[in-house]
Amino acid sequence: MHRVYLDNNATTPLLPEVFDAMRPFYLEGFGNASSIHSHGQHARAAVEKARVSVAALLNARPAEIVFTSGGTEADNLGVFGLVARGDHVITSAIEHHAVLNSCKRLEQMGCEVTYVGVNDRSQVDPQDIRRALRPNTRLISIIMANNETGVLQPVEEIGRIAQEADVFFHTDAVQAVGKVPVDVQKIGCDALSLSGHKIHAPQGTGALFIKKGTLIQPLSYGGSHERQRRAGTENVPGIVGVGKAAEIARHWLADGGPATMAGMRDALEDSVLRTTDAAGVNGLGAPRVPNTTNLYFDHIEGEALVIALDLKGLAVSSGAACSSGAIEPSHVLVAMGMPQQRARASIRVSLGKQTTQDDVDFAIRIIPETVARLREISPVYKKPVSKNDEKQAVS
Ligand SMILES: Cc1ncc(COP(=O)(O)O)c(C=O)c1O
Repeated sequence: MHRVYLDNNATTPLLPEVFDAMRPFYLEGFGNASSIHSHGQHARAAVEKARVSVAALLNARPAEIVFTSGGTEADNLGVFGLVARGDHVITSAIEHHAVLNSCKRLEQMGCEVTYVGVNDRSQVDPQDIRRALRPNTRLISIIMANNETGVLQPVEEIGRIAQEADVFFHTDAVQAVGKVPVDVQKIGCDALSLSGHKIHAPQGTGALFIKKGTLIQPLSYGGSHERQRRAGTENVPGIVGVGKAAEIARHWLADGGPATMAGMRDALEDSVLRTTDAAGVNGLGAPRVPNTTNLYFDHIEGEALVIALDLKGLAVSSGAACSSGAIEPSHVLVAMGMPQQRARASIRVSLGKQTTQDDVDFAIRIIPETVARLREISPVYKKPVSKNDEKQAVS
């Protein structure tokens, strides 16, 4: 069966060059990067080369990069590592659960947290953050690109507000890194998270940028690895993979990759919306990463559409998740003010560096016909017969 993978915000496939770079470190280059013999030195050199590569992608210094087990650990380190009991934290309602649930835990631990809302395009208003500042505010943590809508937040403006208020600024850039230029100097952040498996490196890898001079409390205790910021033997092959993926991403960004990808994404949106009534793009009009589109198709269940598309060979994801045995609409779409029904009728389509025009053409063909098929059996959907009816179907 012909299979097309358009769920790259969930995870990306390893690029062959990344695998080739990692392979020797599972076999002959297996040393512990902390050992002083030549096996160890070889592994250490590879880790430091990867650190230089990740730093270059972010316009950071190599010493400011801490390798972690992924985006979740980077987010936890960026949040728990910068605050103490009694501090106030500002975050948003549309964070990934790695930040959202860390903040919930902070509340249990005696911190206060303000969750700022978003507009109907899932954008935070920086002035809401300014207004939320308190004398005991210690940290602002705002996602750079939302994983569901792909919408980019005004992180540079938020960085200026944090600097003026002398407050730490952490940004979860897991879905931004490798898709748009990410420059920690321009953002003015103190900490920034990335994940390897969103940029074609392996799952279980990631990094946190921590600005030079920032005292961060580690999450785990052990050896003095990663300049005492993250104890534990380094995952050398994984780190090598992140370094290679960062190098590839840097070239891709410089060679106009984002414009080509956005062109494919936009063509998909245009074509699907032209051929399907009562449908639209969530977050349309806001600046977005080039690979993501979040589409709603009124009168059907996103979950049912994801399953029906999968049966035809197309992998995408839905705007709802199973939580405590029930299908809950996405907290991101709900925070945008979307009715629950429409949030449940949404799917996310996300492209990767391996995505071809043929893949997008397949999606352009399959999505409208599958939506039409599901609506045929929907008890609530009535096919519009005139433009007027169509407007009613959408409203
Ligand atoms: C925005 C965002 N932050 C954090 C994470 C967690 O990263 P990881 O899967 O590497 O733990 C994800 C993963 O989906 C994400 O999209």
